[in-house]
Amino acid sequence: MAKTLLYDYQYMSSSKVGNFGFKQSELAGLGRKLKQINLRLEKKADNPDLSFRKLPYDLAGADIIQKLVKKLQPKFETLVVVGIGGSDLGAKALVRALASNQQKVYFSGDTTDPQAFKSLLAKIDFKKTLFNIVSKSGNTLETLSSFIFWRDQVIKKVGYKNHSQHFIVTTNIQGGKLMNLAIKEGYAILAHYSGGGRYSVLSVNGLFPAAWLGLDIKMLLKGAQVMDKLAKENSWQKNPSFIYAALHYLGYKKRGQHIAVLMPYLEALNSFAFWYRQLLAESLGKKYDLNGKLVSVGMTPIASAGPKDQHSQLQLYNEGANDKIFTFVTAAKSPVDFKLPLYKDSGLGFLAGKSLGQILNIEQQAVAWSLMKNNRTNGTLVLPELNEYCLGQLFQFFELATVYLGELLGINVFDQPGVEDSKKQMMKMLK
Ligand code: PA5
Repeated sequence: MAKTLLYDYQYMSSSKVGNFGFKQSELAGLGRKLKQINLRLEKKADNPDLSFRKLPYDLAGADIIQKLVKKLQPKFETLVVVGIGGSDLGAKALVRALASNQQKVYFSGDTTDPQAFKSLLAKIDFKKTLFNIVSKSGNTLETLSSFIFWRDQVIKKVGYKNHSQHFIVTTNIQGGKLMNLAIKEGYAILAHYSGGGRYSVLSVNGLFPAAWLGLDIKMLLKGAQVMDKLAKENSWQKNPSFIYAALHYLGYKKRGQHIAVLMPYLEALNSFAFWYRQLLAESLGKKYDLNGKLVSVGMTPIASAGPKDQHSQLQLYNEGANDKIFTFVTAAKSPVDFKLPLYKDSGLGFLAGKSLGQILNIEQQAVAWSLMKNNRTNGTLVLPELNEYCLGQLFQFFELATVYLGELLGINVFDQPGVEDSKKQMMKMLK
């Protein structure tokens, strides 16, 4: 089987879901714009916002990260990544999707809930723990509060003189509070990805914790390269991230489908759905278009989890307002699987010999079918396997699709003024 992810969108078509689906002519119409869009993006290729497209090709950078991890690991067993939003969700999605020994990487900083600190405090051995403080601006309240808390704990356990070895700061090297403190205290500094945090997963932000867990980060980048090269295709049929964007654009603009549901049928991808949620929400939720016209656009992303939500959300999905587009993520082959034995005289003989992975895929296919029967548009992303190579493709697929959606909607997908407001207000209130 080919190792490239497949986007199956047959249940998005009007031939399957009637007026809620796209017509081939509409898709082809948008497809005719693709060449122009790709040209525009090419012209902006050196803009830091679009540098996420260069990340998959930086294998030399991955090499440096692997060497750094090799140097640090004899001394430290555990890594605590401290960050929030774009400085947290990508790394978390990546690590939780692939790592089997997750106890070696913890996350802190996406809340200042004291309970979360209490529970992590009980888990870590400070002498063997390294903290990676990640903040592009270096000024984010939650991250800074968390950093101050952990710094104090480390100093209490290893003394002020030794504490600096326990911190690596990933931040914008041009400045910010964190950068200034790192210089003052002598913490190691890694340069934060130059574009927006939500596009940074394949930079040092995600690669460092992934390498810490021994994941093949070069394979991850090579997978992302595949998707990036496909996005250079000007023929829409060969460009899956454009197809995804075009179908969502048509649903949003023409059929009132203002909600995008991502429903992975892989437990390991539950955190991925949260990464996707931020990517879509912060990138597409915009008040003004590129010409400064008030537009107030954006699809509302929902992170759903299969098969759990079949027994919790599906009633609404199938019979509530037809205002959603669904995307499932499945894997053709599971890294592990278990066959069910025969349970004699139980009436459950039909399950004998079926594997749990098989049952999972059948659940997803039945749900996709039932949605289609109710005229609910849905597509399925099939990963050949859940591994570094395929996950790299999946990250790049969604980042590119979001950029294409922004191009079709005529908005800037890289800013987030709506987030900045509350950040400034929090600081004002605290000061
Ligand atoms: O996508 C974004 O830009 C935001 O979610 C930020 O990543 C988040 O607010 C954290 O910011 P910083 O990395 O500056 O601490």
